[in-house]
Amino acid sequence: PTARLVDRFGRAITYLRVSVTDRCDFRCTYCMAEDMTFVPRKELLSLEEIDRLASAFIARGVRKLRLTGGEPLVRRNILWLIEALSRHLGDGLEELTLTTNGSQLYRYADALAGLGIKRINVSLDTLDAAKFRVLTRWGDFSQVMRGIDAAARAGLKIKINTVALRDMNEDEIEDLLRWTHGRGFDLTLIETMPLGEIEADRTDQYLPLSLVRARLSQHFTLGDIPDKTGGPARYVRVAETGGRLGFITPMSHNFCEACNRVRVTCTGTLYMCLGQDDAADLRTPMRASGSDAQLHTAIDEAIARKPKGHDFIIDRDSAPALSRHMSATGG
Ligand code: GTP
Ligand code: 5AD
Ligand code: SF4
Repeated sequence: PTARLVDRFGRAITYLRVSVTDRCDFRCTYCMAEDMTFVPRKELLSLEEIDRLASAFIARGVRKLRLTGGEPLVRRNILWLIEALSRHLGDGLEELTLTTNGSQLYRYADALAGLGIKRINVSLDTLDAAKFRVLTRWGDFSQVMRGIDAAARAGLKIKINTVALRDMNEDEIEDLLRWTHGRGFDLTLIETMPLGEIEADRTDQYLPLSLVRARLSQHFTLGDIPDKTGGPARYVRVAETGGRLGFITPMSHNFCEACNRVRVTCTGTLYMCLGQDDAADLRTPMRASGSDAQLHTAIDEAIARKPKGHDFIIDRDSAPALSRHMSATGG
């Protein structure tokens, strides 16, 4: 089949996020528990299977592909997959990109640029090396900085993703804004979402971005940029820095009505919504046959069930909305 993927609310699915591993070399406190059980390696899709699955989506109109994790760059031979997927660039696929914690960029940045990647998102919540270590539980800040430098030198456009965390980095948002924009990077701020048991109290960590925005407005002039990305972020131009600042506010503002995306895990499970448990197994229909017919049928059935939106709430007395960790779907 070559029919475009359109759900029952008329939303066209043009963006696929592929989590290539649930593993990560960090354990950010809002994302993972210290002691995580990861998917056994034998359950993983092979890189060839990930390529086949992603290619099936591209044949159905996916224009943007983002590799995520866990940390995508800790998956063995990841460059093989990126090179394989890059054959679709200019032939259906408009953008191939990834979201990374930056720890491996010092060694991969040049290769990524060489394979046609133009832009990457790097998750970074603090500029303070000691805080970074606490937040990631053992991450090496200077290694991430080296990676970001290497990526910038390789000519990759960089967007920094910062999860806004009460008490942890709320006093640093202005510094992060000056630092990112000073280096020509975009910055996107994200509200914490209630996924997975994390041994930390989310009500303590949750910081509404409406508050952050109001505080920033005291020192910066934020001019709205018309929304045309189709993504969850709302962007503003900061007059003082000339840079772009995004806000991802699933908790305080729901952007699901314009959702254009689905995500696949490293075991081939398709989640139609980040904020819902309903999922479809694509690995079984893919493995059942050398042809993609059953796979496409399974994709169609899943897209037909894509929910209207998430129903996240942050509430001290309730368990996380979803038991699955963010690292299973990569955001
Ligand atoms: P751009 O291509 O730069 O717009 O990136 P992106 O925002 O699509 O991807 P990124 O990996 O940088 O994700 C940033 C944040 O947005 C992460 O915290 C994701 O969890 C969150 N996010 C991405 N897609 C969705 C979604 O469909 N729903 C919700 N609630 N959050 C999302
Ligand atoms: N809420 C919001 N964002 C999260 N991320 C990881 N866990 C959460 C959460 N519970 C972010 C990471 C990364 C992106 C892919 O998801 O910081 O930037
Ligand atoms: Fe790893 Fe990213 Fe989760 Fe941190 S937020 S533990 S870097 S997957």
